[in-house]
Amino acid sequence: MELAQEIARRRTFAIISHPDAGKTTLTEKLLLFGGAIHTAGAVKSNKIRKTATSDFMEIEKQRGISVATSVMGFEYCGKRINILDTPGHKDFAEDTYRTLTAVDSVILVVDSMKGVEEQTERLMEVCRMRHTPVIIFINKLDREGRNPFELLDELEEKLDIQVCPMTWPISQGQTFKGVYNLFDKSLNLFEANSSKIGEKLTDIEGIDDPKLEHWVGTGYADKLREDVSLIEGVYEPYELEMYREGLQAPVFFGSAINNFGVGELLDTFIDIAPCPHEREASERMVNASEAALSGFVFKIHANLDPNHRDRTAFFKICSGRFERNKFYQHTRLGKKLRFSNPTQFMAQEKSVIDEAWAGDVIGLYDNGSLKIGDTLTEGENLHFRGIPSFSPEIFKVLENRDPLKTKQLEKGIHQLTDEGVAQLFTQYGSRKIVGTVGELQFDVIQFRLEHEYGAQCTFMPLRFHKAFWITSDNREQLDEFMRRRSNVIAFDKEEHPVFMAETEWMLKIAREDFPEIEFHATSEFK
Ligand code: G4P
Repeated sequence: MELAQEIARRRTFAIISHPDAGKTTLTEKLLLFGGAIHTAGAVKSNKIRKTATSDFMEIEKQRGISVATSVMGFEYCGKRINILDTPGHKDFAEDTYRTLTAVDSVILVVDSMKGVEEQTERLMEVCRMRHTPVIIFINKLDREGRNPFELLDELEEKLDIQVCPMTWPISQGQTFKGVYNLFDKSLNLFEANSSKIGEKLTDIEGIDDPKLEHWVGTGYADKLREDVSLIEGVYEPYELEMYREGLQAPVFFGSAINNFGVGELLDTFIDIAPCPHEREASERMVNASEAALSGFVFKIHANLDPNHRDRTAFFKICSGRFERNKFYQHTRLGKKLRFSNPTQFMAQEKSVIDEAWAGDVIGLYDNGSLKIGDTLTEGENLHFRGIPSFSPEIFKVLENRDPLKTKQLEKGIHQLTDEGVAQLFTQYGSRKIVGTVGELQFDVIQFRLEHEYGAQCTFMPLRFHKAFWITSDNREQLDEFMRRRSNVIAFDKEEHPVFMAETEWMLKIAREDFPEIEFHATSEFK
């Protein structure tokens, strides 16, 4: 009974956006609304400032800040909210993709001037793959932005999702009046630089209420009525099921920096966002309400101090209750592990916890036995799915600069890739290829190999376009392909063969020549 109640009140989600759209600001305002923090400025941006991209230690310092805020929990209206932070910098996109595997829903922040940006599209692709429910917050209405109808069209088209406005802006920029709530037919008036928590709702009763003129002026009232009648004709009505299946995105307008529209967003969010439900393991579906604990590691953060090579593994609980000091089965290694200091962040405070429930994310102290994707259970042999590797975009050959430290280099690169810093592929003749989504990771690897493992390396760029995991029911054809293209075949850490396509064109040719081979863009294909 307690388990069912704890699960029902949990909301675990991530806020995602293209950098600068307002993710950090919105996170902070949600924490303020939730009473988890009391002063603005408490949440530090995890943005890596441009000036710092050449200074690795500075980057790590900044990343350190983001680690402290990796998971923020707070209580609001009887609900337990867990916000999972995602790195804004595109070079850490892989980290973000993995974090998205641990959430039950997302809030997507869009800048009203810029609309859908590059990162927005890519992040949404990942959400769509997993049918993650999405709420959209269109931010910065206090600035002159785009026409809201145009913005919604763009969202629908570029993000391939049906949109459903829940609020509607009355003008914007200098003349921004506020938003009309299409759902409960109320008016929320805008106040610039509001430091107040809570919103200024008026007492109008629907769109035809003559008091509307009083509050926003005749011209804006007429325009709003016109817009609202258009909205009713253009957009499908909101349907909870459609949202929960990731097919329809409710849209809110506001201005995070001005605390505006945030309360509305949060109240709707706790109402409609899903609590933890079920999750697919290779063996079976696992329901959150099952009594036995299960969960997986989706992120690992290493201590940068070389004298303390410990790490924190971020563990998402998929079912049951986690207990401190209880033995759990590590299914990959087939051994029992016990955690005496599991941690959780409540608001800004990190503390050791005695128990946690399905839906929660906890930090587990690890000295090297956990890697991304690892499952812990109470004995059952489960392996959770949905934590795939995506094809890297930059590939480089790892070259050893100090033959006396070969062992250290081997160990270091294996551990770093277990942490998910990059992906490692090995070619015939044991040439090692490191693949990442951003250049920054190569600096990270080089620095850490040297400082933590005492190994020296350099990287030689390769001209690969993307990696495709290859499978086929026709073993002969697969062998033939791997033999003929051996110079562009490598193996991932699980020994799965991967085709390194030099160009889109080479992939097309390979597909034509070997029609029975399947080329997978992610490592999860069984
Ligand atoms: P991010 O995490 O998505 O990268 O964005 P972040 O919240 O850091 O916001 C990016 C910039 O946009 C910040 O300004 C922030 O103050 C501003 N911003 C956020 N919400 C709003 C809004 O509703 N209206 C307006 N006008 N601006 C908003 P900055 O100058 O880059 O940083 P800062 O010096 O203010 O921190």
